[in-house]
Amino acid sequence: MAAGHEPVIADSHVNSRASVLPRLEELSGTRIESHAFDLRDVDKTSALFADGHFDAVIHFAGLKAVGESSEMPLEYYDNNLGTTFAILRAMERHGVRTLVFSSSATVYGETERVPMPEELPTSSTNPYGWTKVMQEQILRDVAATGSVQVALLRYFNPVGAPPSGRIGEDPRGIPNNLMPFISRVAVGRRERLQVFGGDYPTPDGTALRDYIHVEDLAAGHVAALQYLSTHRDVQVREWNLGTGHGTSVLEMVAAFEAGSGQTVPYEIVGRRAGDLGAVYADATRAEAELGWRATRTIEDMCTDTWRWQEANPQGYPA
Ligand code: UD1
Repeated sequence: MAAGHEPVIADSHVNSRASVLPRLEELSGTRIESHAFDLRDVDKTSALFADGHFDAVIHFAGLKAVGESSEMPLEYYDNNLGTTFAILRAMERHGVRTLVFSSSATVYGETERVPMPEELPTSSTNPYGWTKVMQEQILRDVAATGSVQVALLRYFNPVGAPPSGRIGEDPRGIPNNLMPFISRVAVGRRERLQVFGGDYPTPDGTALRDYIHVEDLAAGHVAALQYLSTHRDVQVREWNLGTGHGTSVLEMVAAFEAGSGQTVPYEIVGRRAGDLGAVYADATRAEAELGWRATRTIEDMCTDTWRWQEANPQGYPA
């Protein structure tokens, strides 16, 4: 919205809360049109497009927990592929040509090559990851007909919150991911962090990831929209959204302690199944082609996460 776009939101709220909406309106100073329904519903999705006169779609709708995806694979395939089918059908039916898709570094599978360039082959080891690989393939095939043009944005590890402290990450139940777990320990909702693996071949033995501030991530989407609108001949293109730098789990804990003034007790335990020692982007393509580069630091990610968590210890109101 700050870049001049007028979004319309559609969300099933299966993993979010509708109470975020008034806060978005407060931050933007305008009313935001939003619709609560499941985007797998082709008729409802198509009806939204019939009314919407949309220029473009940013498709974020998906389940994203690796462990859970092995316990309920059908739910993952149905949700992640089903939303993509309904959105593509609605786009074709209503002549909307531009799609920006939330993909993931998970599509690089088990490669140990770092930094990871976009040219690496894609594969996966779990149902969640396969849904992203499959959605990329579906989007490629549809884009090849010329009916849509698609940006595949491969996110590394999005963390942080806008500096206002009014909105932020509020996972339901026990967080799977590092940053929300750390911030719940810092705010006293969980006792201690378990650090998964202290024996990786990294400087401090803990795993390296490419953490990217959500505000940089958001700017990457705006840059991709801009690129597609000025490169109408491009059918599909993939871009990594990362910083190009790896940060270890213990470095993140130390940065969070410094940024929050809280202690984050932790214990080092065994490796988590399926984890790699080092994952970070080759971020050069996005800079060269989109003119986009991540600018926020690990310190920004920690202080912004803490501002949100401290002011909202229980997350969003129910
Ligand atoms: C994970 C998924 C990735 C998905 C992303 C969604 C795996 C293998 N990858 O990325 O596909 O797109 O989440 O946001 O699950 N860690 C701890 N203790 C914790 C939690 C995490 O030590 O309680 C460590 C992990 O071992 C890892 C790092 O922190 O080294 C980051 O973990 P996490 O935030 O879960 O992200 P990824 O595993 O990189």
